[in-house]
Amino acid sequence: MNASPEAAYNIPPAPGQRVDDPASFAGIVIEGVSKNFGSKMVLDKTDLLIPKGETLVVIGRSGEGKSVLLKSIVRLLESDEGRIWIEGTLINELSRSRLMELRKMFGFLFQGAALFDSMTVCENVGLMPKEHSGWSEERIYARACECLAMVGLENAETKLPSELSGGMKKRAGLARAIVMEPEYILYDEPTTGLDPITGDAINELIVKLQKSLGVTSIVVTHDMASAFKIADRIAMLSRGRIVFTGTVDEVKNTDHPMVRQFIEGNAHGPLGAF
Ligand SMILES: Nc1ncnc2c1ncn2[C@@H]1O[C@H](COP(=O)(O)OP(=O)(O)OP(=O)(O)O)[C@@H](O)[C@H]1O
Ligand SMILES: [Mg+2]
Repeated sequence: MNASPEAAYNIPPAPGQRVDDPASFAGIVIEGVSKNFGSKMVLDKTDLLIPKGETLVVIGRSGEGKSVLLKSIVRLLESDEGRIWIEGTLINELSRSRLMELRKMFGFLFQGAALFDSMTVCENVGLMPKEHSGWSEERIYARACECLAMVGLENAETKLPSELSGGMKKRAGLARAIVMEPEYILYDEPTTGLDPITGDAINELIVKLQKSLGVTSIVVTHDMASAFKIADRIAMLSRGRIVFTGTVDEVKNTDHPMVRQFIEGNAHGPLGAF
């Protein structure tokens, strides 16, 4: 095996990530999606299938484009080429209003939590239903409290984000992601920065949402303990492409050099060190 970073460019994309008829696929189809920032190529004709009901964990080194991939799914970032279908709807051409409608199916936990500083934690969590649901004030408040309790923040409702620790902000962001009972949840680093016990409680919540509500989840993480606990399938993003997908057992047992280097945290291998 040639272990130079250049050799990694020759590693082919993972097979089986395309379907003949994306418009009838139950779930999300990402087909040939590319994204560049100036001269920097981040996603390079990325293909990925996420069947409905699955928890897919996306791993990859820092800066590989995992957050860009998540944002592209709901067009928070516009792809330069390629197509994305969500339950048969091609999202690339959707009007603004239809896109907003479709986004109601999604909860998004942003990597930096992205709370509004001037609003209390409860107001942050209740913002989406306030603007998009038509629910009464009482119902919004009750649901926000319920979601805060699910993430262990029952006593933080009236606090401002600036009064929270980093881990508490992350959990408030998670409460906000689940408040509208979405069918799909996109989690960007849900356990990073949390202590192991809180992180494990978040893992259990992710599994519970999948098992009890049938939520489809895409979880970006570097935390392999979390990945092994929650994933139905793990996909590795490297140099703009999904280079590997497999179940937890397949990941643990693979000899794919990039996956091995990543899960072993080895500074030497096809991914390079920096
Ligand atoms: N809005 C943007 N404008 C310019 N460049 C961007 C933008 N968003 C992301 N990038 C660049 O795209 C690349 C991928 O970024 P991304 O945030 O997706 O990485 P990541 O895999 O999520 O990394 P990490 O694990 O550190 O969160 C980086 O080089 C980043 O600088
Ligand atoms: Mg990221």
